[in-house]
Amino acid sequence: MNVIHSVAELRAALRGQDRIAFVPTMGNLHAGHLALMQTARAHGDPVVASIFVNPLQFGANEDFDRYPRTLHDDIATLRAHNVVDTLFAPTVAEMYPEPQGFRVQPPGDLGDILEGEFRPGFFSGVATVVLKLFSCVQPRVAVFGKKDYQQWRVVHAMCRQFSLPTEIVAGETTREPDGLAMSSRNRYLDAAERAEAPRLYRELCALRDRIRAGGGDFPALEARAANALAAAGWQPEYVAIRRQTDLDRPGDEQAPLVALAAARLGTTRLIDNVEI
Ligand code: PAJ
Repeated sequence: MNVIHSVAELRAALRGQDRIAFVPTMGNLHAGHLALMQTARAHGDPVVASIFVNPLQFGANEDFDRYPRTLHDDIATLRAHNVVDTLFAPTVAEMYPEPQGFRVQPPGDLGDILEGEFRPGFFSGVATVVLKLFSCVQPRVAVFGKKDYQQWRVVHAMCRQFSLPTEIVAGETTREPDGLAMSSRNRYLDAAERAEAPRLYRELCALRDRIRAGGGDFPALEARAANALAAAGWQPEYVAIRRQTDLDRPGDEQAPLVALAAARLGTTRLIDNVEI
Protein backbone atom coordinates (compact mmCIF):
# COMPACT_ATOMS: atom_id res chain seq x y z
CA MET A 1 0.00 0.00 0.00
CA ASN A 2 1.18 3.37 -1.13
CA VAL A 3 0.80 6.14 1.52
CA ILE A 4 0.58 9.62 0.04
CA HIS A 5 0.34 12.97 1.82
CA SER A 6 0.19 15.53 -0.98
CA VAL A 7 -2.35 16.24 -3.71
CA ALA A 8 0.36 16.51 -6.38
CA GLU A 9 1.79 13.07 -5.53
CA LEU A 10 -1.71 11.60 -5.40
CA ARG A 11 -2.55 12.89 -8.87
CA ALA A 12 0.74 11.54 -10.22
CA ALA A 13 0.17 8.13 -8.63
CA LEU A 14 -3.40 7.81 -9.96
CA ARG A 15 -2.86 9.26 -13.44
CA GLY A 16 -4.58 7.22 -16.15
CA GLN A 17 -6.71 5.17 -13.72
CA ASP A 18 -10.38 5.25 -14.69
CA ARG A 19 -11.86 2.55 -12.42
CA ILE A 20 -10.89 3.96 -9.04
CA ALA A 21 -13.07 2.97 -6.07
CA PHE A 22 -12.76 5.40 -3.17
CA VAL A 23 -13.55 5.29 0.56
CA PRO A 24 -13.15 8.60 2.39
CA THR A 25 -12.72 8.39 6.18
CA MET A 26 -11.53 10.40 9.17
CA GLY A 27 -9.41 7.48 10.36
CA ASN A 28 -9.35 5.63 13.68
CA LEU A 29 -10.35 2.76 11.48
CA HIS A 30 -12.67 -0.01 12.66
CA ALA A 31 -14.34 -3.01 11.05
CA GLY A 32 -17.08 -0.79 9.57
CA HIS A 33 -14.52 1.18 7.57
CA LEU A 34 -12.77 -2.01 6.46
CA ALA A 35 -16.07 -3.48 5.25
CA LEU A 36 -16.59 -0.41 3.04
CA MET A 37 -13.12 -0.97 1.60
CA GLN A 38 -14.01 -4.59 0.80
CA THR A 39 -17.13 -3.30 -0.96
CA ALA A 40 -14.96 -0.83 -2.87
CA ARG A 41 -12.74 -3.71 -3.98
CA ALA A 42 -15.79 -5.34 -5.59
CA HIS A 43 -16.62 -2.14 -7.50
CA GLY A 44 -13.31 -0.97 -8.88
CA ASP A 45 -9.55 -1.02 -9.02
CA PRO A 46 -7.39 0.46 -7.59
CA VAL A 47 -9.01 1.02 -4.19
CA VAL A 48 -8.11 4.40 -2.70
CA ALA A 49 -8.93 5.40 0.89
CA SER A 50 -8.42 8.73 2.58
CA ILE A 51 -7.86 9.64 6.21
CA PHE A 52 -8.49 13.29 6.94
CA VAL A 53 -10.11 14.84 10.02
CA ASN A 54 -11.90 17.67 8.26
CA PRO A 55 -12.06 20.85 10.36
CA LEU A 56 -14.81 22.30 8.14
CA GLN A 57 -17.41 19.82 9.40
CA PHE A 58 -16.87 20.34 13.14
CA GLY A 59 -18.81 22.99 15.05
CA ALA A 60 -17.05 25.34 17.45
CA ASN A 61 -18.10 23.28 20.48
CA GLU A 62 -17.55 19.88 18.89
CA ASP A 63 -14.76 17.35 19.24
CA PHE A 64 -12.32 18.38 16.46
CA ASP A 65 -9.42 18.70 18.91
CA ARG A 66 -10.02 15.41 20.69
CA TYR A 67 -11.16 13.38 17.67
CA PRO A 68 -8.95 10.24 17.75
CA ARG A 69 -6.01 10.53 15.34
CA THR A 70 -4.32 7.16 15.01
CA LEU A 71 -2.66 7.30 11.59
CA HIS A 72 0.23 5.03 12.52
CA ASP A 73 -2.11 2.27 13.74
CA ASP A 74 -4.50 2.85 10.84
CA ILE A 75 -1.71 2.29 8.31
CA ALA A 76 -0.74 -0.93 10.09
CA THR A 77 -4.39 -2.06 10.06
CA LEU A 78 -4.74 -1.35 6.35
CA ARG A 79 -1.48 -3.15 5.58
CA ALA A 80 -2.56 -6.17 7.65
CA HIS A 81 -5.91 -6.40 5.85
CA ASN A 82 -4.49 -5.65 2.43
CA VAL A 83 -7.70 -3.98 1.21
CA VAL A 84 -6.39 -0.62 -0.02
CA ASP A 85 -3.89 0.16 -2.79
CA THR A 86 -3.37 3.85 -2.09
CA LEU A 87 -3.98 5.75 1.15
CA PHE A 88 -4.27 9.52 0.92
CA ALA A 89 -3.56 11.16 4.30
CA PRO A 90 -3.16 14.90 3.81
CA THR A 91 -2.54 17.49 6.50
CA VAL A 92 -5.01 20.32 7.06
CA ALA A 93 -2.53 22.71 5.39
CA GLU A 94 -2.35 20.44 2.35
CA MET A 95 -6.13 20.25 1.97
CA TYR A 96 -6.75 23.89 2.84
CA PRO A 97 -3.66 25.88 1.82
CA GLU A 98 -5.84 28.97 1.75
CA PRO A 99 -9.09 29.63 3.63
CA GLN A 100 -11.82 27.54 1.98
CA GLY A 101 -14.11 30.40 0.95
CA PHE A 102 -15.97 28.38 -1.68
CA ARG A 103 -18.33 25.93 0.01
CA VAL A 104 -20.92 23.43 -1.13
CA GLN A 105 -24.28 24.35 0.41
CA PRO A 106 -26.68 21.39 0.50
CA PRO A 107 -30.35 22.27 0.05
CA GLY A 108 -32.04 23.08 3.35
CA ASP A 109 -34.70 20.37 3.07
CA LEU A 110 -31.92 17.77 3.07
CA GLY A 111 -29.02 19.44 4.87
CA ASP A 112 -30.71 21.49 7.60
CA ILE A 113 -32.94 18.72 9.01
CA LEU A 114 -32.09 15.97 11.54
CA GLU A 115 -28.27 16.03 11.90
CA GLY A 116 -28.15 19.41 10.16
CA GLU A 117 -30.53 20.92 12.70
CA PHE A 118 -28.34 19.91 15.63
CA ARG A 119 -25.02 20.39 13.81
CA PRO A 120 -25.35 23.61 11.79
CA GLY A 121 -22.84 23.73 8.95
CA PHE A 122 -22.02 20.05 9.28
CA PHE A 123 -23.25 18.95 5.85
CA SER A 124 -21.77 21.96 4.13
CA GLY A 125 -18.41 20.95 5.64
CA VAL A 126 -18.92 17.32 4.61
CA ALA A 127 -20.08 18.13 1.07
CA THR A 128 -17.22 20.58 0.56
CA VAL A 129 -14.51 18.14 1.62
CA VAL A 130 -16.09 15.25 -0.27
CA LEU A 131 -16.24 17.31 -3.48
CA LYS A 132 -12.62 18.32 -2.95
CA LEU A 133 -11.52 14.75 -2.25
CA PHE A 134 -13.41 13.58 -5.34
CA SER A 135 -11.59 16.26 -7.34
CA CYS A 136 -8.23 14.94 -6.05
CA VAL A 137 -9.00 11.22 -6.42
CA GLN A 138 -11.42 11.31 -9.41
CA PRO A 139 -13.12 8.05 -8.44
CA ARG A 140 -15.57 6.17 -10.64
CA VAL A 141 -17.21 4.77 -7.50
CA ALA A 142 -17.22 5.97 -3.90
CA VAL A 143 -18.51 3.95 -0.95
CA PHE A 144 -20.34 5.51 2.00
CA GLY A 145 -21.77 3.83 5.10
CA LYS A 146 -25.46 3.75 5.93
CA LYS A 147 -24.38 4.34 9.54
CA ASP A 148 -24.35 8.00 8.51
CA TYR A 149 -27.57 7.69 6.56
CA GLN A 150 -28.20 11.39 5.94
CA GLN A 151 -24.57 11.94 4.93
CA TRP A 152 -24.94 9.21 2.32
CA ARG A 153 -28.13 10.87 0.99
CA VAL A 154 -26.49 14.33 0.91
CA VAL A 155 -23.44 13.05 -1.00
CA HIS A 156 -25.65 11.09 -3.37
CA ALA A 157 -27.79 14.16 -4.10
CA MET A 158 -24.69 16.33 -4.55
CA CYS A 159 -23.28 13.96 -7.18
CA ARG A 160 -26.62 13.87 -8.98
CA GLN A 161 -27.16 17.64 -8.99
CA PHE A 162 -23.58 18.46 -10.03
CA SER A 163 -23.51 15.63 -12.61
CA LEU A 164 -20.36 14.27 -10.99
CA PRO A 165 -19.03 11.15 -12.75
CA THR A 166 -18.84 9.24 -9.46
CA GLU A 167 -21.34 6.53 -8.58
CA ILE A 168 -22.22 6.39 -4.88
CA VAL A 169 -22.47 2.91 -3.37
CA ALA A 170 -23.82 2.39 0.16
CA GLY A 171 -22.43 -0.11 2.68
CA GLU A 172 -24.51 -1.63 5.47
CA THR A 173 -23.80 -0.64 9.08
CA THR A 174 -21.28 -2.85 10.87
CA ARG A 175 -22.21 -3.50 14.51
CA GLU A 176 -20.63 -4.80 17.68
CA PRO A 177 -22.04 -8.17 18.84
CA ASP A 178 -24.44 -6.33 21.20
CA GLY A 179 -25.81 -4.21 18.34
CA LEU A 180 -23.96 -0.95 18.94
CA ALA A 181 -23.02 0.58 15.59
CA MET A 182 -19.25 0.79 15.30
CA SER A 183 -17.98 4.36 15.51
CA SER A 184 -14.72 6.11 16.23
CA ARG A 185 -16.63 8.07 18.88
CA ASN A 186 -17.50 4.91 20.87
CA ARG A 187 -14.08 5.19 22.51
CA TYR A 188 -15.36 8.28 24.36
CA LEU A 189 -17.78 6.04 26.31
CA ASP A 190 -16.82 4.90 29.82
CA ALA A 191 -17.58 1.32 30.87
CA ALA A 192 -21.08 2.06 32.21
CA GLU A 193 -21.98 4.12 29.14
CA ARG A 194 -20.62 1.43 26.83
CA ALA A 195 -22.91 -1.11 28.52
CA GLU A 196 -25.87 1.25 28.06
CA ALA A 197 -25.08 2.32 24.48
CA PRO A 198 -26.78 -0.59 22.59
CA ARG A 199 -30.14 0.74 23.80
CA LEU A 200 -30.17 3.20 20.91
CA TYR A 201 -30.24 0.39 18.34
CA ARG A 202 -32.67 -1.67 20.45
CA GLU A 203 -35.15 1.23 20.57
CA LEU A 204 -34.88 1.75 16.80
CA CYS A 205 -35.48 -1.97 16.21
CA ALA A 206 -38.49 -1.87 18.56
CA LEU A 207 -39.81 1.12 16.63
CA ARG A 208 -39.36 -0.72 13.35
CA ASP A 209 -41.16 -3.77 14.72
CA ARG A 210 -44.10 -1.65 15.90
CA ILE A 211 -44.46 -0.14 12.43
CA ARG A 212 -44.22 -3.58 10.83
CA ALA A 213 -46.94 -4.77 13.20
CA GLY A 214 -49.20 -2.02 11.87
CA GLY A 215 -48.41 0.95 14.09
CA GLY A 216 -49.27 4.02 12.07
CA ASP A 217 -49.12 6.90 14.55
CA PHE A 218 -45.56 7.91 13.74
CA PRO A 219 -45.30 10.94 16.09
CA ALA A 220 -46.43 8.73 18.99
CA LEU A 221 -43.92 6.03 18.04
CA GLU A 222 -41.11 8.59 17.77
CA ALA A 223 -42.02 10.07 21.17
CA ARG A 224 -42.21 6.62 22.75
CA ALA A 225 -38.65 5.76 21.64
CA ALA A 226 -37.30 9.17 22.69
CA ASN A 227 -38.98 8.83 26.10
CA ALA A 228 -37.51 5.36 26.58
CA LEU A 229 -34.02 6.76 25.93
CA ALA A 230 -34.61 9.72 28.25
CA ALA A 231 -35.88 7.40 31.00
CA ALA A 232 -32.61 5.47 30.74
CA GLY A 233 -30.55 8.62 31.22
CA TRP A 234 -29.98 9.67 27.62
CA GLN A 235 -30.60 13.12 26.16
CA PRO A 236 -32.32 12.36 22.86
CA GLU A 237 -31.95 15.00 20.12
CA TYR A 238 -34.29 13.39 17.63
CA VAL A 239 -36.03 10.14 16.80
CA ALA A 240 -37.55 10.46 13.33
CA ILE A 241 -39.39 8.19 10.92
CA ARG A 242 -38.61 9.36 7.39
CA ARG A 243 -38.76 8.30 3.76
CA GLN A 244 -35.55 6.54 2.76
CA THR A 245 -35.17 8.43 -0.51
CA ASP A 246 -35.30 12.08 0.57
CA LEU A 247 -35.62 11.90 4.38
CA ASP A 248 -38.88 13.82 4.14
CA ARG A 249 -41.79 13.04 6.48
CA PRO A 250 -43.86 10.18 5.09
CA GLY A 251 -47.29 10.97 3.70
CA ASP A 252 -49.99 8.46 2.90
CA GLU A 253 -47.98 6.71 0.19
CA GLN A 254 -46.28 3.35 0.76
CA ALA A 255 -42.70 4.66 0.66
CA PRO A 256 -39.80 2.68 2.15
CA LEU A 257 -39.02 4.20 5.54
CA VAL A 258 -36.03 4.62 7.83
CA ALA A 259 -36.01 5.41 11.55
CA LEU A 260 -33.14 7.69 12.53
CA ALA A 261 -32.00 8.83 15.95
CA ALA A 262 -29.36 10.93 17.65
CA ALA A 263 -28.89 11.05 21.41
CA ARG A 264 -26.29 12.00 23.94
CA LEU A 265 -25.05 9.54 26.51
CA GLY A 266 -23.04 11.57 29.00
CA THR A 267 -20.87 13.79 26.82
CA THR A 268 -20.88 11.43 23.84
CA ARG A 269 -23.25 11.96 20.93
CA LEU A 270 -24.33 8.75 19.20
CA ILE A 271 -26.39 8.33 16.01
CA ASP A 272 -27.96 5.26 14.47
CA ASN A 273 -30.74 4.26 12.09
CA VAL A 274 -32.74 1.25 10.97
CA GLU A 275 -34.39 0.76 7.59
CA ILE A 276 -37.99 -0.40 7.73
P1 PAJ B 1 -15.94 8.57 9.22
O1 PAJ B 1 -16.82 8.83 10.39
O2 PAJ B 1 -14.54 8.13 9.45
O3 PAJ B 1 -16.67 7.50 8.33
C1 PAJ B 1 -16.11 7.14 7.08
C2 PAJ B 1 -17.11 6.25 6.36
O4 PAJ B 1 -17.32 5.07 7.13
C3 PAJ B 1 -18.49 6.93 6.20
O5 PAJ B 1 -19.02 6.59 4.93
C4 PAJ B 1 -19.29 6.29 7.33
O6 PAJ B 1 -20.68 6.26 7.07
C5 PAJ B 1 -18.69 4.90 7.34
N1 PAJ B 1 -18.93 4.22 8.61
C6 PAJ B 1 -18.63 4.66 9.87
N2 PAJ B 1 -19.02 3.76 10.78
C7 PAJ B 1 -19.59 2.73 10.10
C8 PAJ B 1 -20.18 1.49 10.49
N3 PAJ B 1 -20.30 1.12 11.76
N4 PAJ B 1 -20.64 0.67 9.50
C9 PAJ B 1 -20.54 1.04 8.20
N5 PAJ B 1 -19.99 2.19 7.78
C10 PAJ B 1 -19.51 3.02 8.72
O7 PAJ B 1 -18.05 10.02 7.71
C11 PAJ B 1 -16.96 10.53 7.76
O8 PAJ B 1 -15.85 9.90 8.30
C12 PAJ B 1 -16.67 11.92 7.22
O9 PAJ B 1 -17.83 12.71 7.36
C13 PAJ B 1 -16.21 11.93 5.73
C14 PAJ B 1 -17.26 11.33 4.81
C15 PAJ B 1 -14.88 11.16 5.61
C16 PAJ B 1 -15.97 13.40 5.29
O10 PAJ B 1 -15.04 14.02 6.11
